[in-house]
Amino acid sequence: MLAVAVLAAGKGTRMKSSLPKVLQPLAGATLLERVIKCTNSLEPNRLLLIVGHQAERVQQQLQAHPGKPEFVIQQPQNGTGHAIQQLLEPLSDFKGDLLVLNGDVPLLRAETLEKLLQLHRNSGSSVSLLAAHLENPKGYGRVFSNENGRVDQIIEDRDCDESQRLNTLINAGIYCFKWTELQKVLPKLKSDNDQGELYLTDTVKLLGNATHLEVNDISEITGINDRCQLAECESYLQKRLREHWLKEGVSFIDPTSCTISEETRFGKDVVVEPQCHFRGECSIGNFSKIGPGSVITNSSIGENVSVLMSVINGATIGDNCSVGPFAHLRPEAIIAAEVRIGNFVEIKKSKIATGCKINHLSYIGDAILGSNVNIGAGTITANYDGKTKHISLIGNQCKIGANTVLVAPIEIGNNVVVGAGSTITKDVPDGSLAIARSRQYTKEDYHD
Ligand code: UD1
Ligand code: MG
Repeated sequence: MLAVAVLAAGKGTRMKSSLPKVLQPLAGATLLERVIKCTNSLEPNRLLLIVGHQAERVQQQLQAHPGKPEFVIQQPQNGTGHAIQQLLEPLSDFKGDLLVLNGDVPLLRAETLEKLLQLHRNSGSSVSLLAAHLENPKGYGRVFSNENGRVDQIIEDRDCDESQRLNTLINAGIYCFKWTELQKVLPKLKSDNDQGELYLTDTVKLLGNATHLEVNDISEITGINDRCQLAECESYLQKRLREHWLKEGVSFIDPTSCTISEETRFGKDVVVEPQCHFRGECSIGNFSKIGPGSVITNSSIGENVSVLMSVINGATIGDNCSVGPFAHLRPEAIIAAEVRIGNFVEIKKSKIATGCKINHLSYIGDAILGSNVNIGAGTITANYDGKTKHISLIGNQCKIGANTVLVAPIEIGNNVVVGAGSTITKDVPDGSLAIARSRQYTKEDYHD
């Protein structure tokens, strides 16, 4: 039996943020989501999140999480030992191992946790913990082990004397306990330390049978306590993602100027120009060229597409399209293959069929366009009457003249030509020419 508890009650004072620390985002996911994710493969029987500072906000964000977390309230927050004391009641009948994770250590790998669990179960220790040698161990608790590799005690940085502070073996804040043994020592914790808190780390000495696993990749156990560490972690993750995609056949012209979410997928021979950002779930097809200067969010882009200086959010784009410069594709813009979307064009919740051209200065919203439609510069679908959104239907092969306003709801048939400058308020049947503008009056010799 395995229970996982995540310490997520702390305020994160050093962040100086109105957001609880564990909800700070890192490459598109919160710190807490990342910590929980790395326990998925262990398939824990129970997942307990210890919340306190802004508990409701944390609960709200995590309650729909597939791991079915149980929330345990720690109020007030009197230290990591006090946090785990709150489990005495919900785990009163529990008999297995308890894996404790710090909610602010987000880069941990599932394999490392599996190794820790294995070591714990094979060694018969009361507690097994992750440790690492750090060049700069400042701020971390120091792990004091004897010649047999057993851990005697952990002393927090601020409670160390000068010689103890020279020890570079630090506590990562990740532990596996035999719960029935921890149950017995938790009530014995004392707050006789610099912070006057109950430290979980003090259980190590009380249990008297501790072992540790040293982690080689120290980034895995980096704790996030302030925004400098958050930024370092972000750039580390970004570097890892970029290197992955570079090795998979994606060219980045200026890699460090781009950011990628973990849920973005690229095909082969994609070229990403400088200053491009991929957020949420994105997929970019083979041979596409993105950027410079584009932000793509939750969108799917086909093969051989060119996107220049554009913002694309919640859109789907077919093969061989060209987008931009300066286009804005908004949620539910569904663009078929071979479509050209040019400068200063905004498209929202619209289906655009193959071969359409919307090249300049247009707004297309709540519209359905047939194939090979040419939308003249400055065309607007007036979709909103102040209360409700209405639909514009435009048939195949239409030519909509420049500066047209299509007042929705409206249906334009196939092969329709609309004269430039028209405000179209009535449906137009197949094969017609529609013009709706005042006639030009020219008075000659006006100045004489
Ligand atoms: C802790 C460890 C330290 C270790 C470091 C690793 C203790 C006493 N010290 O120190 O040995 O090197 O992590 O990153 O455990 N929290 C609660 N309730 C509380 C206090 C904290 O849930 O009352 C949570 C925080 O939200 C955070 C985690 O516990 O997720 C760790 O707390 P933090 O204050 O960051 O401890 P550190 O000083 O980093
Ligand atoms: Mg910390």
